[in-house]
Amino acid sequence: MNDNYRTFFALNKEPFGTDIRVTEILKTSELMDIKNRFDYVTRIGAIGIVTGEVGSGKSTALRYALEKLHPSEYRTLYITASSGSIMEFYRQFVYALDIHLSSNSKIIMVRMIKKEITDLICDKKMKIVLIVDEASVMRLEVFAELHTICQFEKDSKPWLPIILAGQNNLIDKLTYRSSQPLASRVVAKSHLEGVNLNGMENYLKHHLTIAGVDQMLFDPTAVTAIHQGSGGLFRKANHLARGALIAAADQQSSQVNAEHVRLAATEIF
Ligand SMILES: Nc1ncnc2c1ncn2[C@@H]1O[C@H](COP(=O)(O)OP(=O)(O)OP(=O)(O)O)[C@@H](O)[C@H]1O
Ligand SMILES: [Mg+2]
Repeated sequence: MNDNYRTFFALNKEPFGTDIRVTEILKTSELMDIKNRFDYVTRIGAIGIVTGEVGSGKSTALRYALEKLHPSEYRTLYITASSGSIMEFYRQFVYALDIHLSSNSKIIMVRMIKKEITDLICDKKMKIVLIVDEASVMRLEVFAELHTICQFEKDSKPWLPIILAGQNNLIDKLTYRSSQPLASRVVAKSHLEGVNLNGMENYLKHHLTIAGVDQMLFDPTAVTAIHQGSGGLFRKANHLARGALIAAADQQSSQVNAEHVRLAATEIF
């Protein structure tokens, strides 16, 4: 697929991209809700959960909340979880903290992580927040042990707030008995669903504006088709919207309609 459609619609960049700047993130009420809960969890040093369907905007919302923390005050640690063992998790944590460690011993890794966090808090007067994105893929053994990493000075210092984000089965994993110590530290839960029709219209307009076009290129039939085809989920809406722009440009049509969206839908899952 060539990019003639960008010239046709006078788009100054690839529209509906993943590379939006933080200032370009659409501040939906759901996103602001996540940010408020994020701030609360961070303030009191507890655990927060963000769940939602694939492509509903979880990582983007976390990116927004993280950017608002001042770097001189906060050390933010971002881990994309894996389905590996707890050792794998600690290795990722060590790496995120920039600790250079040759030992593979769990005890030493945990001790070094805690020492680094204590130094950051007590000596460097920083605050810390750990984000674990895609946490729903983690093994139950990781959920069973993760709370121990938050325990400082006999569990009296809430120094390590954690935000766990992932798909809806994250909640299922937290309801296991073995996950209870971790789950009992959760103080805020956010859930992202697909947006409604009006939300989708705003979303499409917003992304067109980011790409330099203030005119609404999608007619009401196209907005409805994108909303239905995506279930209100942003990533799928991005693919449908971009594909529909390409189909409309192919037909030299200055407005995108439902038929263009239907053509775009044949290309994606
Ligand atoms: N608030 C927003 N403003 C503008 N664009 C957004 C916003 N939220 C999501 N998007 C768009 O939707 C895409 C998918 O969002 P994101 O990657 O945050 O979803 P996710 O829920 O983390 O998905 P996954 O379940 O695959 O991890 C982003 O790349 C971005 O283009
Ligand atoms: Mg994500």
